[in-house]
Amino acid sequence: MSAVHVLNGPNLNLLGRREPAIYGTATLDDIRAMLEQRCADRGVSLVFRQSNHEGDLVDWIHEAGGAGAPVILNAGALTHTSIALYDAIKGADAFVIEVHLSNVHARESFRSRSFISPAARGVIAGFGPLSYILALEAVFENEPRKS
Ligand code: DQA
Repeated sequence: MSAVHVLNGPNLNLLGRREPAIYGTATLDDIRAMLEQRCADRGVSLVFRQSNHEGDLVDWIHEAGGAGAPVILNAGALTHTSIALYDAIKGADAFVIEVHLSNVHARESFRSRSFISPAARGVIAGFGPLSYILALEAVFENEPRKS
């Protein structure tokens, strides 16, 4: 694997000041820095992106899938609504690990439903920024197209 793609959906640009009791105080840049260090240690490059627009995430999943690059995906609220993201993962045959900062199953009932999970290799939720690091470890151990 030459690159890991970490894709973040709507409102995750607000991390650090967004509902800190739920999401903590780390910013998305803090999370990026933690992942960058670990990727550098492994000689893997990191593609780290955020968008508030569903179509951007669809395009980026296509790109990663086409390149055979693993994806760590926090789709934010699109997790609970987006058939387009499900179709993108399936259509691009992308290797995706779904992550969430919060434990979505311990919150409002609508957060328990994920359109990503059936297309994902695995799901990690509830550990704050550590969810991303655990997902990266899972990518390093499980990504099927290792080179
Ligand atoms: C989230 C959980 C989602 O339900 C929510 O809409 C988010 C963030 C998380 O990381 O905990 O935007 O994906």
